[in-house]
Amino acid sequence: MNTIQAQGYQVIINKGIYKKLNDYLLSQKISSVFILSDQNTNENCLPILVKNLDKTIKYNSIVVEPGEENKNLDTCSFLWQELTNQGADRRSLLINIGGGVITDMGGFVASTFKRGIRFINIPTTLLSMVDASVGGKTGVDFGMLKNQIGVFSNPEMVLIDTRYLDTLNLRYKTSGLAEIIKYAISYDTSIWDDIIDFDWGNKQALVELIYKSISIKNEIVLEDPKEGHLRKVLNFGHTLGHAVESYFLESKDKKTLTHGEAIAIGMILETFLSVEILGFPKDIFKLLQDKIFYFFPKTNISTSDIDHIFEYLIHDKKNVNGEVKFVLAKDFGKYAIDVNVEKALMKNAIEYYIGV
Ligand code: GLY
Repeated sequence: MNTIQAQGYQVIINKGIYKKLNDYLLSQKISSVFILSDQNTNENCLPILVKNLDKTIKYNSIVVEPGEENKNLDTCSFLWQELTNQGADRRSLLINIGGGVITDMGGFVASTFKRGIRFINIPTTLLSMVDASVGGKTGVDFGMLKNQIGVFSNPEMVLIDTRYLDTLNLRYKTSGLAEIIKYAISYDTSIWDDIIDFDWGNKQALVELIYKSISIKNEIVLEDPKEGHLRKVLNFGHTLGHAVESYFLESKDKKTLTHGEAIAIGMILETFLSVEILGFPKDIFKLLQDKIFYFFPKTNISTSDIDHIFEYLIHDKKNVNGEVKFVLAKDFGKYAIDVNVEKALMKNAIEYYIGV
């Protein structure tokens, strides 16, 4: 099994993906093909894609600088300008090859250029394979706020070639595991066994894990595409995790965290809150925490950081009427949505992390 039917498009893993791409590009009315990459994927992944493209397909390449700090409206302006300069029209198509920054931003640029041109996502990181590339969220950061500007818009297809993972260092590969752990804690414990046994050397198990993760996310998105209710479970670990991520990104004396590292912190904090507020079993919390620390060693946070982290919570997209709303877990794999959490308890959670 290597194909997942999402809302109006397919996610295909490995076998037959380039045939699918070539057949599509050659059979559809497409005036010009643009390929968006960043400097890393331009160097390491684009050659694999180009080697597999039908030789009669011409394309224009657009390359941007890598990194979350470039996922903003300035880069979008550059991209809209490039598309304009290079003669893109409404029948042009954009292929986004890269991690979540490229697929999120490329999807947004395509969806807004001339009121929307078609796009295809080729995610190259584990994170973008299992989360960012599926579900139709596109967008960019705005000032210090993550994913504040964007639209829901689906690609024509998502093509996953797991060979691209070999181009990443271990830290960036591991980042995607946080989203998979998230699926286990908040929604579907069946994937936890795969996490327990996880080994980068077992390629077949990795492909199965990617397939399973996308299937879980797809099930959630199909039920609630616009995040009215159920899709909020995908935000487990992300409320405090995003605040920590943004704070570390903005702060001059902090190292920039990978998204997975930030979400790993967020999951420990939010499972702590789940124990305190909803009676999540403490022994399972301990087990989860040990595994999370195995993949994501503890990050140095100090008590003087706490108030700064809180400043970033004010703008969380899940807030309603100024209240911070959390997704927590009542039990392993059992989510609770829109939970109010007092600031004092959030502080306790961060202090717990600092002291653990
Ligand atoms: N990454 C969260 C979502 O797609 O809803």
